[in-house]
Amino acid sequence: MKALPSRLPGIDALWPWCLDIAARRRGQPVTQAWDAQACVGWDASQGFSLRGVWDEAAVELFDLLKPLLDRPPGAEPWAIGQLGQSLDGCVATHGGDSNFVNGPEVLLHLHRLRALCDAVIVGAGTAAIDNPQLTTRRVAGRHPVRVVLDPALRLPPGLRVFSDHQAPTLLACDASRAAQAAERVGAAQVLGVPALVGADGLIDLHALLAALARRGLAVLFVEGGGITVSHFIAQGCLDRLHLSVAPVIIGGGRPGLQLPRSNAMRECMRPSNRAFRMGGDVLWDLDLRA
Ligand SMILES: NC(=O)c1ccc[n+]([C@@H]2O[C@H](COP(=O)([O-])OP(=O)(O)OC[C@H]3O[C@@H](n4cnc5c(N)ncnc54)[C@H](OP(=O)(O)O)[C@@H]3O)[C@@H](O)[C@H]2O)c1
Repeated sequence: MKALPSRLPGIDALWPWCLDIAARRRGQPVTQAWDAQACVGWDASQGFSLRGVWDEAAVELFDLLKPLLDRPPGAEPWAIGQLGQSLDGCVATHGGDSNFVNGPEVLLHLHRLRALCDAVIVGAGTAAIDNPQLTTRRVAGRHPVRVVLDPALRLPPGLRVFSDHQAPTLLACDASRAAQAAERVGAAQVLGVPALVGADGLIDLHALLAALARRGLAVLFVEGGGITVSHFIAQGCLDRLHLSVAPVIIGGGRPGLQLPRSNAMRECMRPSNRAFRMGGDVLWDLDLRA
Protein backbone atom coordinates (compact mmCIF):
# COMPACT_ATOMS: atom_id res chain seq x y z
CA MET A 1 0.00 0.00 0.00
CA LYS A 2 1.29 3.49 -0.89
CA ALA A 3 2.33 5.55 2.16
CA LEU A 4 0.18 8.62 2.79
CA PRO A 5 2.05 11.93 2.64
CA SER A 6 3.11 13.18 6.09
CA ARG A 7 0.74 15.74 7.64
CA LEU A 8 3.43 16.88 10.04
CA PRO A 9 4.97 20.32 9.50
CA GLY A 10 8.03 20.10 7.31
CA ILE A 11 10.85 22.20 5.88
CA ASP A 12 8.48 24.78 4.36
CA ALA A 13 7.15 25.52 7.85
CA LEU A 14 10.60 25.41 9.44
CA TRP A 15 12.45 27.69 7.02
CA PRO A 16 10.80 31.01 8.09
CA TRP A 17 11.88 30.22 11.68
CA CYS A 18 15.45 29.63 10.53
CA LEU A 19 15.40 32.99 8.72
CA ASP A 20 14.04 34.62 11.87
CA ILE A 21 16.81 33.14 13.99
CA ALA A 22 19.37 34.68 11.62
CA ALA A 23 17.45 37.98 11.65
CA ARG A 24 17.43 38.04 15.49
CA ARG A 25 21.19 37.48 15.50
CA ARG A 26 21.63 40.47 13.19
CA GLY A 27 19.19 42.64 15.15
CA GLN A 28 16.75 42.76 12.21
CA PRO A 29 12.95 42.52 12.34
CA VAL A 30 11.43 39.02 12.58
CA THR A 31 8.32 37.73 10.79
CA GLN A 32 7.08 34.96 13.13
CA ALA A 33 5.31 35.29 16.49
CA TRP A 34 8.06 34.56 19.05
CA ASP A 35 5.71 33.79 21.93
CA ALA A 36 5.02 30.75 24.10
CA GLN A 37 3.46 29.03 21.07
CA ALA A 38 6.51 29.58 18.87
CA CYS A 39 7.64 26.49 16.95
CA VAL A 40 11.23 27.09 18.03
CA GLY A 41 12.51 27.56 21.56
CA TRP A 42 15.81 28.75 22.99
CA ASP A 43 17.67 28.28 26.23
CA ALA A 44 21.14 29.31 27.28
CA SER A 45 22.54 25.79 27.68
CA GLN A 46 20.93 24.01 24.69
CA GLY A 47 20.63 26.84 22.16
CA PHE A 48 17.70 26.64 19.75
CA SER A 49 15.44 23.59 19.64
CA LEU A 50 12.32 22.55 17.78
CA ARG A 51 9.03 22.46 19.68
CA GLY A 52 6.28 20.01 18.82
CA VAL A 53 6.33 17.24 16.23
CA TRP A 54 7.94 17.80 12.83
CA ASP A 55 8.49 15.54 9.85
CA GLU A 56 11.80 13.72 9.52
CA ALA A 57 13.25 16.04 6.85
CA ALA A 58 12.62 19.14 8.98
CA VAL A 59 14.16 17.54 12.06
CA GLU A 60 17.25 16.54 10.05
CA LEU A 61 17.64 19.98 8.47
CA PHE A 62 17.34 21.70 11.85
CA ASP A 63 19.95 19.32 13.26
CA LEU A 64 22.33 20.07 10.40
CA LEU A 65 21.87 23.84 10.67
CA LYS A 66 21.86 24.05 14.47
CA PRO A 67 25.58 24.93 14.91
CA LEU A 68 25.02 27.91 12.60
CA LEU A 69 21.62 28.85 14.05
CA ASP A 70 23.10 28.83 17.57
CA ARG A 71 25.63 31.58 16.82
CA PRO A 72 24.90 34.30 19.37
CA PRO A 73 24.61 37.98 18.42
CA GLY A 74 27.82 39.96 18.76
CA ALA A 75 30.04 36.87 19.05
CA GLU A 76 33.49 36.37 17.56
CA PRO A 77 33.63 35.77 13.80
CA TRP A 78 32.57 32.25 12.85
CA ALA A 79 33.05 30.67 9.42
CA ILE A 80 31.52 27.67 7.75
CA GLY A 81 33.01 26.43 4.48
CA GLN A 82 31.70 24.15 1.79
CA LEU A 83 33.14 22.08 -1.00
CA GLY A 84 31.28 19.83 -3.38
CA GLN A 85 33.65 17.20 -4.57
CA SER A 86 33.89 14.01 -6.59
CA LEU A 87 34.82 10.60 -5.22
CA ASP A 88 38.38 11.36 -6.33
CA GLY A 89 38.51 14.66 -4.43
CA CYS A 90 38.03 17.18 -7.27
CA VAL A 91 35.79 20.26 -7.13
CA ALA A 92 35.82 20.88 -10.90
CA THR A 93 37.28 19.48 -14.10
CA HIS A 94 40.81 20.44 -15.09
CA GLY A 95 39.33 23.24 -17.24
CA GLY A 96 37.28 24.55 -14.30
CA ASP A 97 33.80 23.20 -15.08
CA SER A 98 31.94 22.57 -11.83
CA ASN A 99 28.34 22.78 -13.08
CA PHE A 100 27.37 20.62 -11.44
CA VAL A 101 29.43 18.35 -9.25
CA ASN A 102 26.53 17.84 -6.81
CA GLY A 103 22.83 17.28 -7.24
CA PRO A 104 20.03 19.84 -6.73
CA GLU A 105 19.61 19.02 -3.01
CA VAL A 106 23.16 20.23 -2.27
CA LEU A 107 22.69 23.35 -4.41
CA LEU A 108 19.55 24.16 -2.43
CA HIS A 109 21.54 23.67 0.77
CA LEU A 110 24.17 26.18 -0.41
CA HIS A 111 21.47 28.77 -0.98
CA ARG A 112 20.15 28.10 2.52
CA LEU A 113 23.62 28.67 3.96
CA ARG A 114 23.90 31.93 1.98
CA ALA A 115 20.57 33.11 3.43
CA LEU A 116 21.57 32.34 7.02
CA CYS A 117 25.10 33.79 6.92
CA ASP A 118 25.98 37.47 6.93
CA ALA A 119 28.43 37.23 4.04
CA VAL A 120 29.55 34.70 1.42
CA ILE A 121 33.23 34.56 0.50
CA VAL A 122 34.76 33.25 -2.74
CA GLY A 123 38.27 33.23 -4.15
CA ALA A 124 39.35 34.97 -7.33
CA GLY A 125 39.47 31.63 -9.20
CA THR A 126 35.81 30.92 -8.57
CA ALA A 127 34.78 34.50 -9.35
CA ALA A 128 36.71 34.42 -12.64
CA ILE A 129 35.63 30.98 -13.85
CA ASP A 130 32.05 30.69 -12.56
CA ASN A 131 31.05 34.36 -12.66
CA PRO A 132 28.60 33.50 -9.83
CA GLN A 133 25.75 35.66 -8.53
CA LEU A 134 26.01 34.33 -4.94
CA THR A 135 22.35 35.14 -4.27
CA THR A 136 19.61 33.15 -2.54
CA ARG A 137 17.42 32.67 -5.61
CA ARG A 138 16.56 29.04 -4.75
CA VAL A 139 15.16 29.89 -1.29
CA ALA A 140 13.35 32.69 0.53
CA GLY A 141 15.78 34.87 2.47
CA ARG A 142 18.00 37.88 2.03
CA HIS A 143 21.11 37.80 -0.11
CA PRO A 144 24.37 37.82 1.85
CA VAL A 145 27.04 40.44 1.34
CA ARG A 146 29.38 39.04 -1.32
CA VAL A 147 33.10 39.11 -0.49
CA VAL A 148 35.67 38.38 -3.18
CA LEU A 149 39.31 37.61 -2.37
CA ASP A 150 41.35 39.09 -5.21
CA PRO A 151 44.71 40.11 -3.73
CA ALA A 152 46.32 40.68 -7.14
CA LEU A 153 43.32 42.70 -8.45
CA ARG A 154 43.10 40.51 -11.51
CA LEU A 155 39.33 40.19 -11.81
CA PRO A 156 37.46 42.11 -14.53
CA PRO A 157 34.95 44.68 -13.19
CA GLY A 158 32.24 43.33 -15.50
CA LEU A 159 31.78 40.18 -13.36
CA ARG A 160 28.23 39.79 -12.08
CA VAL A 161 29.12 40.30 -8.42
CA PHE A 162 30.57 43.73 -9.22
CA SER A 163 27.94 44.85 -11.70
CA ASP A 164 24.53 43.24 -11.10
CA HIS A 165 23.58 45.31 -7.99
CA GLN A 166 21.60 42.36 -6.58
CA ALA A 167 23.45 42.49 -3.25
CA PRO A 168 26.36 44.43 -1.76
CA THR A 169 29.81 43.22 -2.85
CA LEU A 170 33.18 43.82 -1.22
CA LEU A 171 36.42 43.29 -3.08
CA ALA A 172 38.89 42.52 -0.28
CA CYS A 173 42.37 43.83 -0.90
CA ASP A 174 45.33 45.32 0.88
CA ALA A 175 44.69 48.92 1.95
CA SER A 176 47.76 49.98 -0.03
CA ARG A 177 45.89 48.99 -3.23
CA ALA A 178 42.44 50.26 -2.27
CA ALA A 179 42.60 53.27 -4.61
CA GLN A 180 43.53 51.00 -7.51
CA ALA A 181 40.69 48.63 -6.63
CA ALA A 182 38.25 51.57 -6.40
CA GLU A 183 39.15 52.63 -9.93
CA ARG A 184 38.09 49.18 -11.12
CA VAL A 185 34.90 48.48 -9.19
CA GLY A 186 34.03 51.74 -7.39
CA ALA A 187 35.05 52.74 -3.86
CA ALA A 188 31.79 51.45 -2.31
CA GLN A 189 32.73 47.92 -3.34
CA VAL A 190 36.25 47.97 -1.91
CA LEU A 191 37.27 46.63 1.49
CA GLY A 192 40.84 47.83 1.91
CA VAL A 193 42.42 46.24 4.98
CA PRO A 194 45.80 47.40 6.34
CA ALA A 195 48.48 44.68 6.09
CA LEU A 196 45.99 42.24 4.59
CA VAL A 197 48.39 40.76 2.05
CA GLY A 198 51.85 39.59 3.10
CA ALA A 199 55.05 39.68 1.05
CA ASP A 200 54.25 36.09 0.02
CA GLY A 201 50.97 37.26 -1.54
CA LEU A 202 48.91 35.43 1.08
CA ILE A 203 45.90 37.06 2.68
CA ASP A 204 45.96 37.22 6.48
CA LEU A 205 42.50 35.74 7.04
CA HIS A 206 42.38 36.72 10.72
CA ALA A 207 42.75 40.35 9.60
CA LEU A 208 40.05 39.83 6.99
CA LEU A 209 37.61 38.33 9.52
CA ALA A 210 38.26 41.19 11.95
CA ALA A 211 37.62 43.76 9.20
CA LEU A 212 34.38 42.04 8.20
CA ALA A 213 33.27 41.83 11.84
CA ARG A 214 33.76 45.59 12.16
CA ARG A 215 31.15 45.90 9.40
CA GLY A 216 28.76 43.61 11.28
CA LEU A 217 29.60 40.58 9.14
CA ALA A 218 30.52 37.91 11.69
CA VAL A 219 28.88 34.70 10.45
CA LEU A 220 30.58 33.82 7.20
CA PHE A 221 30.07 31.27 4.47
CA VAL A 222 33.24 30.35 2.58
CA GLU A 223 31.80 28.89 -0.60
CA GLY A 224 34.97 28.02 -2.47
CA GLY A 225 36.92 27.10 -4.31
CA GLY A 226 39.42 24.57 -3.06
CA ILE A 227 42.33 26.98 -2.68
CA THR A 228 40.30 29.46 -0.63
CA VAL A 229 38.75 26.88 1.70
CA SER A 230 42.19 25.29 2.17
CA HIS A 231 43.71 28.65 3.18
CA PHE A 232 40.93 29.14 5.73
CA ILE A 233 41.67 25.73 7.27
CA ALA A 234 45.45 26.18 7.15
CA GLN A 235 45.18 29.52 8.99
CA GLY A 236 42.79 28.09 11.58
CA CYS A 237 39.95 30.34 10.42
CA LEU A 238 37.31 27.75 9.55
CA ASP A 239 34.99 26.45 12.26
CA ARG A 240 32.97 23.99 10.22
CA LEU A 241 33.09 22.43 6.78
CA HIS A 242 30.25 20.95 4.76
CA LEU A 243 31.97 18.57 2.36
CA SER A 244 29.47 17.12 -0.10
CA VAL A 245 30.71 14.03 -1.90
CA ALA A 246 29.01 13.15 -5.19
CA PRO A 247 29.23 9.67 -6.73
CA VAL A 248 31.19 10.91 -9.75
CA ILE A 249 34.82 10.43 -10.73
CA ILE A 250 36.32 13.49 -12.46
CA GLY A 251 39.90 12.38 -12.98
CA GLY A 252 42.70 14.96 -13.03
CA GLY A 253 40.39 17.81 -12.05
CA ARG A 254 40.89 20.80 -9.76
CA PRO A 255 41.62 19.60 -6.27
CA GLY A 256 39.43 20.28 -3.26
CA LEU A 257 41.38 20.48 0.00
CA GLN A 258 45.11 21.08 -0.39
CA LEU A 259 46.74 21.10 3.03
CA PRO A 260 50.27 20.56 4.35
CA ARG A 261 51.37 16.94 4.05
CA SER A 262 51.15 14.53 6.99
CA ASN A 263 53.87 11.93 7.37
CA ALA A 264 51.94 9.40 9.42
CA MET A 265 48.28 8.53 9.75
CA ARG A 266 48.36 9.39 13.44
CA GLU A 267 49.18 13.02 12.50
CA CYS A 268 46.17 13.39 10.21
CA MET A 269 43.18 15.54 11.10
CA ARG A 270 40.20 13.44 12.10
CA PRO A 271 37.50 16.02 12.67
CA SER A 272 34.40 15.22 14.63
CA ASN A 273 31.79 14.50 11.96
CA ARG A 274 28.21 13.73 11.02
CA ALA A 275 26.97 12.42 7.66
CA PHE A 276 23.74 13.54 5.98
CA ARG A 277 22.24 12.07 2.83
CA MET A 278 21.41 14.78 0.28
CA GLY A 279 19.73 13.20 -2.73
CA GLY A 280 22.41 11.09 -4.37
CA ASP A 281 25.25 12.83 -2.46
CA VAL A 282 26.58 12.53 1.07
CA LEU A 283 27.25 15.72 3.02
CA TRP A 284 29.90 15.43 5.72
CA ASP A 285 29.42 18.04 8.43
CA LEU A 286 32.89 18.45 9.93
CA ASP A 287 33.48 20.28 13.19
CA LEU A 288 37.01 21.65 12.82
CA ARG A 289 37.10 22.99 16.40
CA ALA A 290 36.17 19.80 18.28
N1 LIG B 1 32.52 22.17 -6.29
C1 LIG B 1 32.52 23.22 -5.50
O1 LIG B 1 32.03 23.19 -4.37
C2 LIG B 1 33.13 24.49 -6.00
C3 LIG B 1 32.94 25.68 -5.27
C4 LIG B 1 33.53 26.84 -5.75
C5 LIG B 1 34.29 26.79 -6.90
N2 LIG B 1 34.44 25.63 -7.57
C6 LIG B 1 35.30 25.55 -8.74
O2 LIG B 1 36.61 25.69 -8.25
C7 LIG B 1 37.43 26.32 -9.24
C8 LIG B 1 38.11 27.49 -8.60
O3 LIG B 1 38.70 27.07 -7.38
P1 LIG B 1 40.20 27.26 -7.09
O4 LIG B 1 40.54 26.45 -5.91
O5 LIG B 1 40.99 27.08 -8.35
O6 LIG B 1 40.28 28.83 -6.77
P2 LIG B 1 39.55 29.73 -5.67
O7 LIG B 1 39.70 29.15 -4.33
O8 LIG B 1 38.20 30.10 -6.13
O9 LIG B 1 40.39 31.07 -5.79
C9 LIG B 1 41.75 31.00 -5.44
C10 LIG B 1 42.36 32.37 -5.60
O10 LIG B 1 41.73 33.30 -4.72
C11 LIG B 1 42.72 34.11 -4.13
N3 LIG B 1 42.82 33.71 -2.71
C12 LIG B 1 41.91 33.01 -2.02
N4 LIG B 1 42.32 32.86 -0.74
C13 LIG B 1 43.49 33.50 -0.63
C14 LIG B 1 44.41 33.71 0.43
N5 LIG B 1 44.17 33.30 1.69
N6 LIG B 1 45.54 34.36 0.17
C15 LIG B 1 45.79 34.83 -1.06
N7 LIG B 1 44.96 34.68 -2.11
C16 LIG B 1 43.82 34.03 -1.89
C17 LIG B 1 43.99 33.85 -4.90
O11 LIG B 1 43.93 34.69 -6.02
P3 LIG B 1 45.17 34.93 -7.00
O12 LIG B 1 45.27 33.69 -7.82
O13 LIG B 1 44.78 36.11 -7.84
O14 LIG B 1 46.35 35.17 -6.14
C18 LIG B 1 43.82 32.39 -5.23
O15 LIG B 1 44.60 31.90 -6.28
C19 LIG B 1 36.51 26.72 -10.35
O16 LIG B 1 36.65 25.78 -11.40
C20 LIG B 1 35.13 26.63 -9.76
O17 LIG B 1 34.19 26.28 -10.74
C21 LIG B 1 33.89 24.47 -7.14
